[in-house]
Amino acid sequence: MTGHPTIRLVRGDITEQDVDAVVNAANSSLLGGGGVDGAIHRRGGPEILEECRGLRASHYGKGLPTGQAVATTAGRLPARWVVHTVGPVHSRSEDRSGQLASCYRESLRVADELGARTVAFPAISTGIYGWPMDDGARIATETVRNTTTTSVEEVFFVLFDEPAYEAFAAHTG
Ligand code: AR6
Repeated sequence: MTGHPTIRLVRGDITEQDVDAVVNAANSSLLGGGGVDGAIHRRGGPEILEECRGLRASHYGKGLPTGQAVATTAGRLPARWVVHTVGPVHSRSEDRSGQLASCYRESLRVADELGARTVAFPAISTGIYGWPMDDGARIATETVRNTTTTSVEEVFFVLFDEPAYEAFAAHTG
């Protein structure tokens, strides 16, 4: 059956979520970084990075393009899969909100293909990539609300601090 996933907000650390798939706010190299990306690789262990290296070699020689998503297994994380997506760096002169929406849509498409029922997202691009939290929350919630899924029933937005939680709460009823 197809429908829209139910949205839930969680205050916490995305690496601790007991869900089928966690989404990583990666960069196009897929080879790790800071923020969520660093935490996922640290806690998930080296298997994830090994798979990422394999994906670079087999499919993404030039890196994963912004707005796209690809899955690996989740190593030692409680989740089964990590869906890696590359958010846009925020720009004052160029509207990149379509790319940010694409991260949520493509990650959900990949998770749906895997048969995930529960998916956890961080607030993509709102850390190192500088996207204003309120606008990031608006794009995240609108996009998930408007995406149709078959297997994904629940989407958890995992917010690291209170201001992020409040921003998402303002965009969910
Ligand atoms: N759990 C949940 N949210 C977190 C966690 C965590 N463990 N850690 C940080 N956040 P960021 P980006 C929040 O910087 O902006 C990496 O180097 C954080 O407070 O992780 O998409 C990549 O390799 C913020 O609100 O991702 C890229 O180079 C949000 O998660 C670049 O950073 C996203 O912050 C991607 O930057």
